[in-house]
Amino acid sequence: MPSITVRNLDEDTKQALRERAARNGRSMEEEARLMLAATEGQSPPPLTAKPSTTEHEDAFSKADNRILLIIGGGIAAYKCLELIRHLKKKEMAVRVIMTRAAQEFITPLSLEALSHDKVLTNLFEREAEHDIGHIRLSREADLVVVAPATADLMAKMANGLADDLASTCLMASDKPILVVPAMNPAMWAHPATRRNVKTLEGDGIHFVGPNSGEMAESGEAGVGRMAEPLEIANAITGLLDSSPKPLAGRRAIVTSGPTHEPIDPVRYIANRSSGKQGHAIAEALGRAGAEVILVSGPVNIPDPKHAEIIHVQTAREMQKMVETALPADIAVMVAAVADWRSAETADEKMKKQDGKGPDSLALTENPDILKGLGHHHNRPQLLIGFAAETEKLEEHGRAKLKRKKADWILANDVSAENGVMGGDNNTIRLLSNKGVEAWPTMDKTEVAERLVERIVAHFETETVET
Ligand SMILES: Cc1cc2nc3c(=O)[nH]c(=O)nc-3n(C[C@H](O)[C@H](O)[C@H](O)COP(=O)(O)O)c2cc1C
Repeated sequence: MPSITVRNLDEDTKQALRERAARNGRSMEEEARLMLAATEGQSPPPLTAKPSTTEHEDAFSKADNRILLIIGGGIAAYKCLELIRHLKKKEMAVRVIMTRAAQEFITPLSLEALSHDKVLTNLFEREAEHDIGHIRLSREADLVVVAPATADLMAKMANGLADDLASTCLMASDKPILVVPAMNPAMWAHPATRRNVKTLEGDGIHFVGPNSGEMAESGEAGVGRMAEPLEIANAITGLLDSSPKPLAGRRAIVTSGPTHEPIDPVRYIANRSSGKQGHAIAEALGRAGAEVILVSGPVNIPDPKHAEIIHVQTAREMQKMVETALPADIAVMVAAVADWRSAETADEKMKKQDGKGPDSLALTENPDILKGLGHHHNRPQLLIGFAAETEKLEEHGRAKLKRKKADWILANDVSAENGVMGGDNNTIRLLSNKGVEAWPTMDKTEVAERLVERIVAHFETETVET
C-alpha cells in the first residue's frame, strides 16, 4: 500500500488536508491514509466519527427549508454563528460557503459544528465538485443568503463576476437571494456601492439592513452595520413563507404562561397555566405576517417559530418587558399573571423553627398589566385580554372589559373539570362593546387561528372606514 509523509507535503496541500480531516473528525495522517486506500480501490475502514458527505447531502436535500448561506469577508462574519443557531431553531437546514476572506474572520470548523454539514470554500475542490457540484449546490437550496455581503461581493454580483465558489454559485442560482450588507459607512455611501445596490434591487435581489449604529472600527458610526441575527432569521422566514400576510406591517405583543412569584430562593407562588394558548396566538399572529414580541412566563413548551420571545419569571418583569415593547398595534394579554406576590422575599431558604413554619404569608398586589396598557399613553390600537373565570363568565368578563379599558375580552371557563389550564382545548366567549360571540370548544391552535381571523377582519374594516 502506498504511503505519504504529511510533513513533506507543500503548504497548500497540507492546508487542504487539514480542513478535510477537521471536517471528517480525523487526524491528518488518518485522512491521508483513507484517501490513499480509496485511490487504490481498497474499501476504507468504516467511519465511526461523522457521517459522510453523501449522508449530509441527503439530509440537506430532503429538508423542508434549505438555506445556502454565503459568508463574505467582513468583520460581522461572527454574527453568522448566531444566525445559524436561530435558523436551526426554526428547523431549517443550512449549508455554508465561505469566501477566502471570510476564513480570515471565522473558521470553517466552528460553522461546521453549528450547521452539522461540511463547509465549502473552494470552487476547484475535486471531492466537493464530484459530490455536490457548484451548479447543484446553488439550485438545491430554497433561498440563498449572503451575510455579511461585502462591498466586494455586491460588486461582483452586480457585474456578473464568477471567480470563486461564492460568486459562481450566486451566478448559477435560480433561487431567491437575500443580501445582508455590512461595511464601513463610507463604503456603503460610495457611489459605486450605490450603483451596485440599485442594480441588484433591479435584478430582484432582496435586502435586509444595513442598520445604523456603531461600527467595529473605534469611533466610526453610521449606516453600514449588519442586521442582527434575529432580524435576518425573520427576514428569511418571511421570504420562505408564501402564505398570505394580512397583518404585515403590524406589531403585536402577546403574553403567555404563568408567572412565578418568589417566596424565598426555592419556593414560589404559581398557577397551572401551560402557555399553550398564548404561544399558539403568538405563532398564528406571526404566520399572518405580524411582527410579534412574545413575553412568556416559565413554561415547558417550545418557543414559537414566528415570534421573538422574551422569557420572564415575575409579573413585575412581565409588565416591564411589555411596556418596553410598546408601541404596538395589537396586544393580546393571555398570561395568567399572579394577582398577588409575597410581600417579602427571603434571601435564604426559610427554615422550620422547632418544627413550625411561618403562621402566615403576607401578600401584596401585583401590577395589573392589561389595565396598565388600557390606560397607557401609548395604548395599543387593539387591546385584547383573557378572563379566566370559574363562574359568571360573561358578567365577570364584561366587568373586566370596562375596568381595564380593553377592546375585547376572551372569557374562558377554567373550572378544574374543564381541564383548560394545561389542557389542549378551550371554550371561548368573545366579549366586545358590539356584543358576545360564543365559540364552540376548540383546540387551542384553532382558537388562535379564529382570533387572528377576527383581528384581520377588525383591521380590514377599519381601513375601509377611514
Ligand atoms: C479587519 C477587516 C475588516 C473588514 N471588514 C469589511 C466589512 O465589514 N465589509 C466589507 O465590505 N469589507 C470588509 N473588509 C474588506 C474585505 O475583507 C475585502 O474587500 C475582501 O476582499 C472581501 O472578500 P469577499 O468579498 O470575497 O469576502 C475588511 C477587511 C479587513 C482587513
